[in-house]
Amino acid sequence: MTPVVSAPPRRILFVCLGNICRSPSAEGLCRAMIEESDLAGLIETDSAGTGGWHQGDAPDPRAIEACARRGVDISDLRARQVIAQDYARFDRIIAMDRSNHANLLRLAPAGARATLSMMLSFAPGEGPDEVPDPYYGGRQGFETMLDLLGASVSALLNAERKTLGLG
Ligand code: 4NP
Repeated sequence: MTPVVSAPPRRILFVCLGNICRSPSAEGLCRAMIEESDLAGLIETDSAGTGGWHQGDAPDPRAIEACARRGVDISDLRARQVIAQDYARFDRIIAMDRSNHANLLRLAPAGARATLSMMLSFAPGEGPDEVPDPYYGGRQGFETMLDLLGASVSALLNAERKTLGLG
């Protein structure tokens, strides 16, 4: 009898500074889109911060509320700091802004498995290349953040479909 061989899931890590606003929102949107699609069970997601100040914290209440208004629950997520070993555990590491990207480059071990990208490099069309940090602003910043993340996460999943031979 032919054994059933299932490929390990692809693993994607979203990274921002504090891991309480942008990257948990990206993770939550991505997780929800995966669960509602043909990619369910094929991709795992996580998020982390380049800083460790919020280790163990739930996402910022404003991020939880903004995601909830779009039908996405991120209240179960908890912050952690990114570590060099993440480069071996993930296929993709995705930075929200140039500062995150520079810090992640410094952390990358030689021969890293994960590929490092900017979140908005997946976004279709012309637009900003960084997801602005909404932490010090008002509610509108969280809406703008989710608009940017929605389009780019959706495009990222189309790239994953191609990688998995589904596209
Ligand atoms: P995030 O936003 O990087 O999108 O999670 C921030 C959250 C907290 C801080 C900075 C940015 N902070 O300095 O505590």
